[in-house]
Amino acid sequence: MNAATPSKDIDVKLFSMVLCFSRAIDFLHPKISEHHLRVAYVASCLAEELGLGQGQIQEALIAGALHDVAAVSSAMHFDLFDDALTRYHVSTRQIPDHLHLHGWEGYLLLRDFAPFAKAASAIRFHHVNWDFGHGREFEGEQVPLTSHILHLADRIAVLPDDDRHVLEQVAGIRQAVATGTGRWFMPAVAAAFDGISEKESFWLDLTSRHKEEIISRRFGGSKVSLDLDGLYQLARIFGKIIDYRSPFTAAHSSGVAATSEELAHRLGMSPTERRLIGVAGNLHDIGKLAVPTEILDKPGRLTPQEMFIIRQHPYYTHRILSTVPGLETVNTWASLHHERLDGRGYPFRPRELPLGSRIIAVADIFTAITENRPYRRGMDRMQCLAVLDQLVAEGAIDGDVVAVLRHDFDQIHHIRRRSQSAHASDSDMTAAGALLPSA
Ligand SMILES: [Fe+2]
Ligand SMILES: [Fe+2]
Ligand SMILES: [Fe+2]
Repeated sequence: MNAATPSKDIDVKLFSMVLCFSRAIDFLHPKISEHHLRVAYVASCLAEELGLGQGQIQEALIAGALHDVAAVSSAMHFDLFDDALTRYHVSTRQIPDHLHLHGWEGYLLLRDFAPFAKAASAIRFHHVNWDFGHGREFEGEQVPLTSHILHLADRIAVLPDDDRHVLEQVAGIRQAVATGTGRWFMPAVAAAFDGISEKESFWLDLTSRHKEEIISRRFGGSKVSLDLDGLYQLARIFGKIIDYRSPFTAAHSSGVAATSEELAHRLGMSPTERRLIGVAGNLHDIGKLAVPTEILDKPGRLTPQEMFIIRQHPYYTHRILSTVPGLETVNTWASLHHERLDGRGYPFRPRELPLGSRIIAVADIFTAITENRPYRRGMDRMQCLAVLDQLVAEGAIDGDVVAVLRHDFDQIHHIRRRSQSAHASDSDMTAAGALLPSA
């Protein structure tokens, strides 16, 4: 890995970030291999076939790529998600009311980022049936066309049986959709599906291993770039989703980001670098999406096997972020957060650690040991500094970074706490769930 130096201009495409995160959430469930990429592909094809404009095709793509983000991120929804992928293919049964909750939570997670606002509204209603669910309106709210596109795309994505050739299943899938048209599927969207599903290439693209490349070539045209603020806001949302998986580490990424930014500022990094280190802090544990929650939240001692799995996560952080052109520096800083100066960290063991990684390593340990967790209180100043001093003495972490933390401990501690409590309250899904109209 190269310890890249950030250039002044940030050029990261929104589209690359969305696909990157979509792939990351597809790691989360053994049954959802490529589910989000498949839905993104079908939804974009349907939007195009319906003659919608570039903006709406992008909206369908973003919504498809992220639509089940709340379901896959929360253990609470895991069984339910199993149902959605297996039992409710295209069935005669009504979709149960509780299945709408993950659409609502996904909406809450994504809506505050302006480029996601419309996609978030579509995600909110992505399991609303057409007429039997009185599909133009649900709970007194207008259901966007993109929700109905998503609804059909979601069902199409789960129908092919991967053990059989997709082309031998096409007639059956088309028939199933025709049967559900009017009841579950909006007729105009089903007609668009009829048009695209005649083509063998549609099915071969849908089941291709190169789907991402196909999506990029066909629908990645708008090339919306994120400026530094946009990238920062998006990283905060992704950080929230990463933290949302585990009640034990809720808001951890936000604390690491805030602490890293404060340390970077005091160590003389430029304003751009400080923002970028905030991005890296929010994304540093994105590779944990590949670690099952049973291991992440296991109360007792981990087995050696489980330890290997946990220790893979910075490797996956690197793999996930390396697909985004322009994010090289952030990736380096984020993926090296478990490395040690003495080379005994993991998993890359580079000879040299850039300052950004050394800062995030200290911020990560500091946040982990000072934050309160459901099973223990965080350490106070003396205990925390004793742990950090010990790690400096062992040659694990940077003594200069720890000296800065010691110098301004109370202020940095306060900023870390404030950031985590703000983050926790705006992602309080229990309170949000209570606002869901009961159906
Ligand atoms: Fe869903
Ligand atoms: Fe889905
Ligand atoms: Fe980590």
